[in-house]
Amino acid sequence: MQNDKKEILNSQFPKAHPLYSGRLFDVYSSWEIEPVKAKGCNVQDKNGKEYLDFYGGHAVISIGHSHPQYVRAIQKQVERIGFYSNSVQNSLQKELAEKLAGQSGYPDYALFLCNSGAEANENALKAASFHTGKKRIIAFEGSFHGRTSGAVAITDNPAIQAPFNIGHEVTFIPLNDIDTVEKELARGDVCAVIIEGIQGVAGIFVPENDFLQQLRSICNKNDVILILDEIQSGYGRTGKFFSHQFSGIRPDIITMAKGMGNGFPVGGMLISPQFEARKGMLGTTFGGNQLACAAAIAVLDVMREEALTENAARVGAYLKKELSELSGIEEIRGRGLMIGIAFRPACSDMRNRLLFESRIFTGGAKNNVMRLLPPLSVSKKEVDFFICHLKHLLESVTI
Ligand SMILES: Cc1ncc(COP(=O)(O)O)c(C=O)c1O
Repeated sequence: MQNDKKEILNSQFPKAHPLYSGRLFDVYSSWEIEPVKAKGCNVQDKNGKEYLDFYGGHAVISIGHSHPQYVRAIQKQVERIGFYSNSVQNSLQKELAEKLAGQSGYPDYALFLCNSGAEANENALKAASFHTGKKRIIAFEGSFHGRTSGAVAITDNPAIQAPFNIGHEVTFIPLNDIDTVEKELARGDVCAVIIEGIQGVAGIFVPENDFLQQLRSICNKNDVILILDEIQSGYGRTGKFFSHQFSGIRPDIITMAKGMGNGFPVGGMLISPQFEARKGMLGTTFGGNQLACAAAIAVLDVMREEALTENAARVGAYLKKELSELSGIEEIRGRGLMIGIAFRPACSDMRNRLLFESRIFTGGAKNNVMRLLPPLSVSKKEVDFFICHLKHLLESVTI
């Protein structure tokens, strides 16, 4: 390159300060571990160390890491066409909607596709508000629904709400307190009630079945939309397709994400037939693209062929039983493969010890609760390995 050209380029793109060059906006507390490979319920870091994954990358890995059928489906799709916008026909969306409707037990509900959990909840709130013409939302204490503007406003955590997020009309009510919900709905200004299938971030709290049944009936009575956030508790994790199905109710809107794409970013909502779609009412550039659909279809196919929801019920029950025989534990909560363990105070460091001494990933939650969210394909043998290590660590503290 001629010298004068080089000079011009250098003046246009001055060298970045070495301290600041290419740095990331530092918002995550993360471990000094870098996974580079994974298979089934195992993860390998860049130094070749193997870990057992009882965290599922935050409840995301449903069918197991790098499932060959899933890998092939994504590879084949991206070779054909990876993306085109929602301005054209996409028969993969139809295939996904049909398979999801059948497998979830909601054959009459319509599917709207997006890219994340927060976006699914944001759209659910909008759909409910368009439908009722109202804006006040009832949410529950301890709730987590995401970080976008509406989703964070209905999340019970002021620390993650910016001044910009404040101003939504939201009332938080203790979980399972039907009398207070009834009083609030009677005021006539409520658009929707939103509730997690199981509260995850709060520390695994399952809403009582009769509470959900009464909630359904008072929402009907007051023409209020009932939204079930199944983003973490859905997609087979609890041993049914959605956790609320243990109570027999049918919500008006169900939101999904995490397990839906086994790591590929896909979110969505199932919407009851009472909602009328209008052109332009909701929308997204990336939502429902061909690659996302191929990933989500492969997930449903593998879930069906390998009976993973049934596996979550069976192995989850085994895991709970084995946990109940350990010392050092105050309470075990949850369903299927969404389990919370509240340890006695002396055992509060179990998560770090499992990771660094036993090489087992687990999740955390408020008040030092450990969250177990392994892939739905986890085996009894892998549970035995986990229990054996946890038992050993607990005995080293409590004996
Ligand atoms: C119950 C629930 N809702 C919503 C979200 C937000 O999902 P996302 O992080 O994909 O926006 C989460 C994420 O942890 C969640 O657990």
